Parts: sequence; structure tokens; C-alpha cells
Amino acid sequence: VNAQSLLKDAVSFRLGASVNPRMLVENEAYRNIASNEFTSLTAENHMKMMLIHPAADRFDFTKGDEIVAFAAKTGKRMHGHTLVWHNQVPQWMKDFQGDQKAWEEMLKNHIQAVVTRYKGQVSGWDVVNESFLDDGSLRPSLWADHIPDYIAKSFQWAHEADPNALLFYNDYGQDGHPKKMQAILDLVADLKKRKIPIHGLGLQMHINVDSKRTEIARVIEQSAQTGLVIHFSELDIAVNPKNNPEYIYEANTQNELFQFIFTSFRAIPARQQYGITFWNISDKDTWLRGYFKRPKEYPLLFDETYVKKPGYHSLVNYL
Ligand code: XIL
Repeated sequence: VNAQSLLKDAVSFRLGASVNPRMLVENEAYRNIASNEFTSLTAENHMKMMLIHPAADRFDFTKGDEIVAFAAKTGKRMHGHTLVWHNQVPQWMKDFQGDQKAWEEMLKNHIQAVVTRYKGQVSGWDVVNESFLDDGSLRPSLWADHIPDYIAKSFQWAHEADPNALLFYNDYGQDGHPKKMQAILDLVADLKKRKIPIHGLGLQMHINVDSKRTEIARVIEQSAQTGLVIHFSELDIAVNPKNNPEYIYEANTQNELFQFIFTSFRAIPARQQYGITFWNISDKDTWLRGYFKRPKEYPLLFDETYVKKPGYHSLVNYL
């Protein structure tokens, strides 16, 4: 599989997972699942600013390169995550001093260096991640504070560096927060009107068993109506959202919701189906356990021993 053929069918339904490069090397079961069960990969962390651009004059592409090489070797589509975000920003960026022009140059340089590094190997980029608060206002951040219109500029800069890459706006919690959803729709309309290249919407889909299907359905419908390519970019379904320490895993509700998510995605016009990406491989690897310290969480399709959970089998029909 070469880069060109990967790009040509960049928009074809893919089932993906985000991955951790150390696990790909150290854990054979993990590596086999990444290799055999998925057709698209995302770096869970290693293409983010903090890790890929640790000092003003230094990029560290080592781990990103490893994942991209694994993707190429195993014939996966590679999805890039993420160029501009308010989180996981290196200290030197937080300390950066300069006028608007200097800030723009700094961000442009970051975006274009990363996109150029992976040009032809990464099919699509989450260019801007999580720019809106739940109330629909622009999230205060380094970027919002220093660069007026930073979202549009970021898309433009990314496009200049790789005109073939699909460019996504990615965010979470659109269900339950209609004003946030509206802000995203307004952004898309504004970028289109100004002929700024945007090709896709990423709905992270960090949801839980109490998430409302009607709201999820509305968000999917509104997203699809933009005509953009749609990616469920970080899917996991928390089963124990209140982090009850006595919780005992019960899979039925979760499985039904997984089925609902898959059916809804597959109902989007085929030319807009970029794919569904799970946020890591097994229940042992989920950020809900690591980052959020919720040991009794089981949000994915492989259990702690890397065995397929029953939910996996019930989804095969929807692939
Ligand atoms: C998370 C990772 O899963 C964690 O390992 C890391 O510590 C923090 O970031 N939205 C995003 C992802 O766009 O990049 C986040 O990933 C989860 C929320």
C-alpha cells in the first residue's frame, strides 16, 4: 500500500483506533489487534504540540514516525491528531513573547512543519481541536488570546502545507450542548463562505451509557447536513460515569449504544463516511482509567486481557 492509494480512498469507511507507540512495541497482543482489527490509526498523544515540538527550535518526530511507519507497514490509513489545541501545549509556547505577527509565525511554523513531515502519509488532520466552550463561546486559550481568527488561519496554513490532506475541525460534547453544536455549524458556514478549506468534522464521541440517543442523532444529522466528511474520532462509551468503586460491569446497555452509534454512522451518505475511531484498544488502555483515574471503567471493545468483548461480535454486522 503506498501513500497515493491511501489518499485516493481516504474517504472510505474505516474502523480505527488511537494508539500508543510504546504499547505497539512492547505488547504483542496490542500490536496484533492494531494490525488485524483496524484499518485506520491515530496517535493518541504523540502528534500533539507538547510531544512533537518540545522546544522552540526542536521537533521530536520519533514517536510519530514510529506510528506512521507501523501504519504504512500494515496498510492502515493514518489520521493526524492534532495541530492546534489548548491542551498539551509545551511550556515554551506558554512562555512565548511577541506581537500578533510573531505568534502567527510561531503557530504557522508549527502547523506547516508537522503537516510537511507527514505529507502524503497522513490522510486527514484534526487541524483545530476543542475551540468552543459548552455555551458556544470561543474558548479562551493561548491561540484565541494572541491570534485573531486563529481557526481559519490554521486551516489555511495546513492546506498550504499539504493540499491533499483532509482537514477536520474536532470537538466533543456536541450532544447535550446545542449551543456548542451551533457554534461549530456557524464556523463551518463561515469558513465555507470565505473559501477557507475545511473538509471534515470530527465528533469525538466520548459518551456514556446515559448519553441521550435523540441528542446524538440530532448532532449526527446536523453534522452530515454540512456535506462535510464525518469522523467519530475518539469513541468510547463509559459505563460507570459516576466512578462508583463497587461497580460491576454490565455490557448490555453499552452494546446497544455501540450498535446505535454504528447504525447511525452507517446511515450517513457513503461519500461522507470517513470512519469510526476508538480511543485506544482495550479497557486497560483507556484514558478514563489512566488520565481520569477511574479504574472501574470498561469503555472499549477489548477487555484487559485483549480478548474481544461480546460487544465486538455484535458490531461486525455494521461494518
Ligand atoms: C487524551 C489522551 O487520551 C490522554 O492520554 C492524555 O493524557 C490527554 O489527552 N480529547 C482529545 C484527545 O482530543 O486528544 C484527548 O486525549 C482526549 C480528549
